[in-house]
Amino acid sequence: MSDAKNANMKGLILSGGKGTRMRPITHTAAKQLLPVANKPILFYGVEALVDAGIREIGIIISPETGNDVKECVGDGSRWDIKITYILQEHPMGLAHAVKTARDFLGHSPFVMYLGDNLIKDGVGPLVERFSKGNADAFILLKEVANPSAFGVALLEKDGSINCLEEKPAQPKSNLALVGVYLFNEKIHQAIDEIKPSRRGELEITDAIQRLIATKHRVDSHILRSWWLDTGKKDDMLEANRVVLDEMTDMEMLGNVDENSRVSGRVHIGKGSKLVNCIVRGPAVIGENCTLENSYVGPFTSIGDGARVTQAELEHCILREKCQILDFNGRIADSLIGVGVELTRSNGKPQAFRLMLGDDSKVEVV
Ligand code: G1P
Repeated sequence: MSDAKNANMKGLILSGGKGTRMRPITHTAAKQLLPVANKPILFYGVEALVDAGIREIGIIISPETGNDVKECVGDGSRWDIKITYILQEHPMGLAHAVKTARDFLGHSPFVMYLGDNLIKDGVGPLVERFSKGNADAFILLKEVANPSAFGVALLEKDGSINCLEEKPAQPKSNLALVGVYLFNEKIHQAIDEIKPSRRGELEITDAIQRLIATKHRVDSHILRSWWLDTGKKDDMLEANRVVLDEMTDMEMLGNVDENSRVSGRVHIGKGSKLVNCIVRGPAVIGENCTLENSYVGPFTSIGDGARVTQAELEHCILREKCQILDFNGRIADSLIGVGVELTRSNGKPQAFRLMLGDDSKVEVV
């Protein structure tokens, strides 16, 4: 953990939005609560801020999923920090979220972290650099293949920012704005001076552009390590793959019978039981799961209380209490919601690629 001097810095995590690109999974859950390696995405953001020495975090929530977020994250005591929830009635943009949080933020500098983003190296060194320097804002950038899906920065030769544009049709560079920003209180006035964008939102990108236009100093850093924006199914699977790939240890708290083989980096939670199974890591199996006559391949996460018999799983996220019974087939590249029941009466082995919302029932005959 960084030293106490970052303790005056606040954190602002955005966990609103409707998650339309992740339906049907997000019909019943906030996208920020979806698990990556069996841990809600949002926790990675909270922990990145806690590791950077931040003790006070505000979480922006929406009327649709706010209660679920509160219930899952709690008051912060599990990290020994204070969490304040701030309701944003309508999703009117990232800068609008900062406006909504103004009482909470006061005059403090803060890190804004989009709750569906994952970055590899945390934010400690960036917070440190921002605290020591004299920039009014600090943004993270990353080279991407599809810049028009993001805010895009054009840099000068000396590395300073020429301009920023939100989701431009003709991007001027391939440098996307990563969903982690550091600001001092100057951002509030900049937000007051901008107008809603074409999509009707108060864009943080426009507010930062306003800081630049009014001769404030905005520094940037180009991330070389991975950054994932988990907006869609394949992004979730990719995030799961990357996080599991970084797992270095094994943890065997469950019961594995002598006919099973477990190899590679695998976590098996307490109360789980494996009978005649092959597990090839990296993979995580939660608590109180039962797996029989099955194969669990690399980059698979299985949530607590799942039951799997006679199935092959690879590169999948299975959520809590899923039941995949007598399946006699292979499920790959799939995201399966809470409590899904998937059964198959007969037929020759086949492969499936699925995205199933919570409580779906599927019988393949
Ligand atoms: C937001 C920002 C965008 C940034 C992106 C990163 O977009 O507006 O500038 O590049 O987050 O995840 P949104 O995800 O709200 O469309």
